[in-house]
Amino acid sequence: MTDSISEAGSTCEAVIAAADFPVFVVTTRAGEETSGCLVGFTAQVSINPLRFLVGLSQRNHTHRVAQRAERLNVHLLGQDQVELAALFGSETGDEIDKFARCAWHPDSTGLPVLSAAAGWFGGKILERHDFGDHTVMLLAPDTGVAPPADVETLRFLMVDHLEPGHDA
Ligand SMILES: Cc1cc2nc3c(=O)[nH]c(=O)nc-3n(C[C@H](O)[C@H](O)[C@H](O)COP(=O)(O)O)c2cc1C
Repeated sequence: MTDSISEAGSTCEAVIAAADFPVFVVTTRAGEETSGCLVGFTAQVSINPLRFLVGLSQRNHTHRVAQRAERLNVHLLGQDQVELAALFGSETGDEIDKFARCAWHPDSTGLPVLSAAAGWFGGKILERHDFGDHTVMLLAPDTGVAPPADVETLRFLMVDHLEPGHDA
């Protein structure tokens, strides 16, 4: 047993970090405005129907655009793509245009797809829930490109040294 809430919190974070979960780049678009950031707070939460959660920090530029967007795209990166992860995780759309610094193309709905991603899927935002400093968005995935079977996925412990563009 831990003896304080803050100790329990750091124990929880240590357990989650040790699980070395995958990180993704989420992109979105509302009107003419595009945005995207690195995310670790994700989970598939239903098989049939297929449902996926993304947690976006309310301080992020991506959050502001996603609040007005209909869809999100979720990109899987390879272990050799720390630089792309740093662009989306350590820079903010409040200050730079990330999409001027990487290769991308629009999908059939106009959302950015990162051309270098190992794989990606996109989905409609069905629900938004405010859980405190993050808003969780529930997606219904309906498009995308599968990664190669031998992909070596970029995971949290390879990017935990990155300084986020915004505090959580
Ligand atoms: C390892 C790592 C994991 C992150 N996970 C999340 C996350 O789950 N959700 C989120 O909103 N931001 C997360 N961030 C922070 C954003 O990617 C970062 O603040 C980014 O610069 C925000 O860009 P924006 O302001 O253009 O949206 C993470 C950053 C790092 C380095």
